[in-house]
Amino acid sequence: MPERYALITGASGGIGAAVAETLAGRGLNIVLNCRRADERSDAVRRAVETHDRAAIVCPFDVTDRTAVQTALRALVQEGLEIDVVVNNAGIARNALLLEQSADDWTSTVSTTLDGFFHVTKELLLPMVRRRHGRIINVSSIVGLAGNRGQTAYAAAKAGLIGATRALSREVAGHGITVNAVAPGVIDTPMTRAVAGLPQPPVGRSGTPQEVAALIAFLASDEAAYITGQVITIDGGLI
Ligand code: NAI
Repeated sequence: MPERYALITGASGGIGAAVAETLAGRGLNIVLNCRRADERSDAVRRAVETHDRAAIVCPFDVTDRTAVQTALRALVQEGLEIDVVVNNAGIARNALLLEQSADDWTSTVSTTLDGFFHVTKELLLPMVRRRHGRIINVSSIVGLAGNRGQTAYAAAKAGLIGATRALSREVAGHGITVNAVAPGVIDTPMTRAVAGLPQPPVGRSGTPQEVAALIAFLASDEAAYITGQVITIDGGLI
């Protein structure tokens, strides 16, 4: 019987790496997407392998439809059953809208929304045929509440929530759940670059491992009755 795989986009970043390791710890083999293979993706691959699970590094830019198709069709043709998709790749090009460049707007929105479309579309039909799947989209509290200087990022992450809710209704009858997580301030390279972040009521930033544990639950068989939801993980911030 083919072994089950989870694909994580942006898997060499802070949250993506934690998700890869956590899912491997729960018995899944992992396809690690990153923009390019480097020492960070290599470190995540080794971390997955310590759990005795297979790790396939699969570099592509999620905004490049042809690259996504080529990479994922090759994996599907090899017989990999990718049952769990974590759309995690994201960028934030923060600026007030008056000062935002068109390129930064486009790349922020495209990474999240085109990335979701390209990756999910390639893997959805095999899931429908197997009547099993878990799609987890990494949104943000900014997509729910907005934030000054993050109009593009908020639009992208709110759009991802809309896509989550709509797709969940399309595939609910096929054993596939589609949910979003909306993290607050999580300690990763993305937030380390930002000054003046708000202090959550719990008094600290979240860890990538805490977000990964939530994603792992949504990816599990136990979460079969949760779909179309956005689950906030923000230490009480919003
Ligand atoms: P990160 O910057 O450490 O990781 C993001 C990863 O996505 C990087 O490895 C990057 O190379 C990859 N990526 C970006 N564009 C890509 C593309 N076009 N194709 C393939 N990979 C691409 O950031 P972090 O914090 O781990 O973020 C992961 C996700 O969580 C993002 O979607 C982010 O928006 C979201 N998030 C993060 C929060 C935080 O506080 N760190 C809060 C809320 C949401």
